[in-house]
Amino acid sequence: MIGIFDSGAGGLSVYREIVKVLPEEKYVYYSDNAHCPYGEKSREYVIDRARKITDFLLGQGCDVIVVACNTATAAAIAALRAEYPIPFIGMEPAVKQGALRTRSGVVGVLATAGTLKAEKYHDTRDRFADGVTVVERTGEGFVELVEAGTLDGPEAEAVVRRSVEPLLDAGADMIVLGCTHYPFLQPLIERIAGPGVTVIDPAPAAARHLLHVMEDRGLIRHDGQPMKIGDPKAADVRLFSSGPQAALERIFSIL
Ligand code: DGL
Repeated sequence: MIGIFDSGAGGLSVYREIVKVLPEEKYVYYSDNAHCPYGEKSREYVIDRARKITDFLLGQGCDVIVVACNTATAAAIAALRAEYPIPFIGMEPAVKQGALRTRSGVVGVLATAGTLKAEKYHDTRDRFADGVTVVERTGEGFVELVEAGTLDGPEAEAVVRRSVEPLLDAGADMIVLGCTHYPFLQPLIERIAGPGVTVIDPAPAAARHLLHVMEDRGLIRHDGQPMKIGDPKAADVRLFSSGPQAALERIFSIL
C-alpha cells in the first residue's frame, strides 16, 4: 500500500500522476491541513509532522511513502530515511529539466520559502544549473488559493501575476513548479506566461521514479491483466486530513 502525504491537497497533483503508472495499487492520502502551510514553518516543526504522519501511514499498512511535498522533502526526507526501514520517494524542484531545456539561459523556480532556503535545494541547484541563471520566487499566496479551491478568476490571477511576472521580466523561458500545490494553478500560470514559456510539473518524473523503486523491490500489485492507465478517482484510495476534509475533497473532485 502506498502512503502519500503533503501539508494539504497539493500532493494530489502527484497522486494523479502516480495512479497513471500504478493503477492497481491501494493508496492512503494524508493532508496535514491543520498545519498548513509548511513553507513558513521551521525545519524542526516539519520534521516532527513528517514523523507523526509516517507513523500514521505505517499504521494503515503502507510499505512505501511518497513525500508529495517539496518543503517536507527538503526538511525531513533524510531523517525519515534514517529512521524508518521503508522506501521514501521525495519531490524536488526540476532544476535539471529546466536547465537542459532552456533556450534563453534563464530558469525560473517557484517554490515555498522553506524549500528555497533549504540546503537540499541549494545542492540540487548548484549541481544542475551549470551555465544557466536561476531566478527564484516564492509563490506567495498560491497554497492558500489552492486550499480554498480558487484556481482561476481575478483574485487568483492577481496573486499569481505577482510571483510570475518577475520571472518573466528576468527572461525565464522555463518555469519550474517547486511546490506540489502549484500545478493546480498551472493553466493560469501558463496563460500569464504566454506561449514562449514552458511550465514544468515534476510529478510525472516522480511517479516514474516510484514505479522503478517498487519494481526493484518487488512491491507492485498486479492482477495479471495488461496494465491499464489509472483514473485517479476510480483508484482504491482513502483520504485523510488533520483539519477539515472539505478542501481535500474539493481538489480531489477536479482530478
Ligand atoms: N505542497 C507543499 C510543497 O510542495 C508545501 C505547501 C506549504 O505547505 O507551504 O512544498
